[in-house]
Order: sequence, then structure tokens, then C-alpha cells
Amino acid sequence: MIDFRALADTYDTPLYIYDFDRITRQYEALKKAFSGRKSLISYAVKANSNLSVVSHLARLGSGADCVSIGEVRRALMAGVPKYRIIFSGVGKRDDEIEEALEKDILLLNLESEAEMERVEAIAAEKGIKARISVRVNPNIDPKTHPYISTGLHENKFGVDIETAKRIYIRANNSAHLDPVGIHFHIGSQLTELDPIKEASMIVADLVRSLLAIKIELKFFDVGGGLGIVYDEETTIEPYDYAQAILSTLHGLDLTVICEPGRFMVGNAGWFLTRVLYEKVNEGKRFIIVDGAMNDLLRPSLYNAYHKIEVVDKSGDESPADVVGPVCESGDFFAKNRPLPPTEPGDLIVVHSAGAYGFAMASNYNTRPRPAEVAFEGGKERCIRVRESFEDLIRLEKMCL
Ligand code: LLP
Repeated sequence: MIDFRALADTYDTPLYIYDFDRITRQYEALKKAFSGRKSLISYAVKANSNLSVVSHLARLGSGADCVSIGEVRRALMAGVPKYRIIFSGVGKRDDEIEEALEKDILLLNLESEAEMERVEAIAAEKGIKARISVRVNPNIDPKTHPYISTGLHENKFGVDIETAKRIYIRANNSAHLDPVGIHFHIGSQLTELDPIKEASMIVADLVRSLLAIKIELKFFDVGGGLGIVYDEETTIEPYDYAQAILSTLHGLDLTVICEPGRFMVGNAGWFLTRVLYEKVNEGKRFIIVDGAMNDLLRPSLYNAYHKIEVVDKSGDESPADVVGPVCESGDFFAKNRPLPPTEPGDLIVVHSAGAYGFAMASNYNTRPRPAEVAFEGGKERCIRVRESFEDLIRLEKMCL
């Protein structure tokens, strides 16, 4: 049991809290699901990129799926071996491609023919052969929120099957490209297995047709997307997920890569905030807290549901909006949520905040980002101190 009150006393609020033992359990469960098959779990760093989180996963044997050179640097700093690092992303700058090649990571995941040409040219300048994979867009509806759905042709991600084939043939004939993998990612917070299986089947067929023309890939990267329970969703069991994918790979000798972000850290994190006031506007109840949309954006951006609890409080529940101090009507954590009466100083816990919580935080309204605390084996430690006003203005220049 986490003592939220003690944590608020020590670190103040708003605060992010993570349970590293839970992260370990998530990692082990997924690894076990793929046991008996060559596999690599490459944690999607974007979900929570704190160095301690990434290094915890690195110690468990995880790789890293990165979408900027900054994330690649983080992964290396956190101790992820270079041969377990993937660099994906729909638009990579030349300097990012150069650095990724210099760092000799496992592979660069390409998302267009134009990008292939850039990678080839940069690899040629360096006199090396770049290991690449191609992100295929299998045109599958993942049945999730449109903002986090990525596998349809109307989305900006990846290339269609025919373009992918062209890229592989061209790369295979290039002195500076080594096509080693194939990749797809159809969306995030997936709770249904069929779309993943269907996508996997389509991409496995492409692997077979490449094999027929002597293009032999090693890595089959199924992206991330495993959903978690925020409310009362039925989610996919790691075993069923692994079986669904593996069942499409008969006769193929491939290492399966998966890139889970949310699944690893989502339910291993809480956001703790303090009640400032309560007020009622013409019968509508508001609980105003010291955390805001700049700290945890998911409710505002996706209308996402996060379970909310008032610490050590009971009493007659009535519907309330839990809102922050930012000057936007969209600044809320919950709407019409049944909650007990609160008083200034009470603590409110927002659940499932480990993924895309701190990672999407900003300094909007000149608000310093929260501190982050981790628990492991019953011991707590601060893994990021609260930002100060000075941190916020450090890079600004004032014309006097
Ligand atoms: N691999 C690729 C290529 C991705 O684009 C993503 C997520 C992942 C892996 C990890 O997906 P996960 O396992 O975490 O579902 N901010 C949104 C989520 C955006 C996900 C973007 N891509 C949210 O808060 O729900």
C-alpha cells in the first residue's frame, strides 16, 4: 500500500508515483508469453522516458523503441545496449539519421521511399551499410480512439504493401542498405485481438513474398499497442497476444520484436494532486486541484477516463468535475464523477497515470512540471525533482 499522505508531505503535490515492481511484472509477463521463440521486447520510451524507468527496464533485458535521437541518447544513457535500440518515426532529420548510424543501433525503421534515399545517401557518405526495416501500413482498423489509431491508409504512418516491396528490392540491391526487418503498428490502447492478428497475417505474407525473391528478413516487429484497464475494459492477455502473432508466422524463422509502452508502465503509475477548493456554480459542483492539464493531458486531449479517488475520505458521493487552475475549459481530470465531499488539503489520486502522463507534460501557464518518485522493493526514491521557476526561464533571453 502506498502512503499517499506521507509522499505528499515529503515531495509536495502535484506528484507522479511509480511502482517499479509492477513494471517488472509486466515485462516478465510479456517476455514469458513469447518464450520458446526468439523475441525482443523494445520498450516504447515515449510512454515514460524518465532515465530511471528506462534503466529499470534495461536491467530486465528490455530494448528501446525510440522516436527521436533524444530518445536514442536516453536509452543509451540508461544502459540499453545499442543492439537492442530501434529508431522509428515518420520524419527523421539528417542529423538524427547520421547520429543513429554512428551509434550503430540495431536498425532504423523507414517510413517512406524518400527517407530510404536519405538514409542510403548518408550511409554512403560514411561508407557503411545501414540496417533498416520498413514500416508497413496494413490498412487495418484497430478499433481504438482515432487520435491513437495509426494503421489505416488515411493515417500518416508507414507505406502501403506495394511501396514496401519496392523499398525492399531497392534496399536489397544497395551497397549501403541492409534490409533486416519489417514493422507495423496499427494503434494504441488496443483491446481487441483480431485487428492485430489480421495485420500480422498481411505483413507475414509480405515477408513470404520477399523470401520468394531471396530477400530474407530477421526481425518481425509488431509495434506496441497492448491496451490496459483504465475503467472496466476487457484487455488482451499477453499469452493470447503472443499466440495470435506467432500463429501467423508458420515456416518463418524470425525474431519477434514488440514495442509496448502503455502496457509496461501505465498501471504502474499514479498522479497525486491536492484539493485547493470546492465550489458550486448554479448547482454544478467543482473540485479545484493543484494539478492541471499541463501535468496530465490525457483527459483534456482524448477525453480519456482515469479512475479517481479521494485519499482516506468517504461520505455521500455526488457528481463533481475535477478541474485544474489552467485558463482553459478543457482543463479537467474528470467530469460528473461521483466523489465524496472534499476540503482544502485533501489528496486526490488519479490512477493509470504511468504512461503518457509526465511524458506529455508541459510548462503551459508557467507551471513547473511535477516531481517523480519510484518505489522498488518497498523503498522509495525521487527520480526527478520538481522543476523550479528558474528552470523554466533558464533558456529565455530578455531584451532590456
Ligand atoms: N510503437 C510505435 C511505432 C508507436 O507509435 C507507439 C505509440 C508505440 C510503439 C507504443 O504504443 P503503446 O504500447 O504505448 O500503445 N499519447 C497517447 C498514446 C500515443 C501512442 C503513440 N504511439 C495516449 O496517451 O493514449
